[in-house]
Amino acid sequence: MNARSGRNSSKKVVIAPSILSADFSRLGQQIGLVEKAGAQWLHIDVMDGHFVPNITIGPVVVKKIRPFSKLFFDTHLMIDRPDRYWKDFVAAGSDLITFHAESMVKIKSLIKNIKTSGVKCGISIKPKTPVSAIMPYIGMIDLVLVMTVEPGFGGQAFMPEMVSKINQLRGIIDRKNPSCWLQVDGGINNQTGKIVVDAGANAVVAGQSVFGQKDPAAAVKSLFRAVDSRP
Ligand code: DX5
Ligand code: ZN
Repeated sequence: MNARSGRNSSKKVVIAPSILSADFSRLGQQIGLVEKAGAQWLHIDVMDGHFVPNITIGPVVVKKIRPFSKLFFDTHLMIDRPDRYWKDFVAAGSDLITFHAESMVKIKSLIKNIKTSGVKCGISIKPKTPVSAIMPYIGMIDLVLVMTVEPGFGGQAFMPEMVSKINQLRGIIDRKNPSCWLQVDGGINNQTGKIVVDAGANAVVAGQSVFGQKDPAAAVKSLFRAVDSRP
């Protein structure tokens, strides 16, 4: 894995610990632990209190943690107007901007703008949103994010009925845009992580199961062992 390129020549599953579950009083140190343990991306959950019923992190936090980490900053915008804010996250050091298909934007032009700025672009769908909502864009983007909980909070239970959606998307991505990442977010632990990777995901977000544990580094290593079925 080249630092901050996000590309993965080894075909190893990408683990993206979500700082939503981290101890914010010592965030730099916590990020260092998962980076040293081999996590390749850092998942940053941005919530505006409108698109989801919670408020979290803004660009000021991204800017402050950027000098402390070489990880690929995977920024998940759960906000109504990603078109108004994405540039602030790029300026702060985000490497990937993922926005929701359900947000209030002209999707095609936002993808073009994000990609032209030189960072990667992803689109996310909530559990009730069908794959058909993003079909026209799969050839244009770097990542599809499948939510396996209703977005808004960490620590929720994985929705097993999303597995068929992951499977379906794996087939579509293989046909239309094989280098596009298929990421899964919500309730991922050693058991559910293996299920979604077997269904075709190649990037998993983990909040509670990493930063919610006493030893986040050991949790990352154990998640790698659980999802990586290579000999
Ligand atoms: C939920 C967020 C997730 C969250 C995952 O809306 O998008 O990234 O941090 O947390 P866990 O892994 O605890 O479900
Ligand atoms: Zn997220």
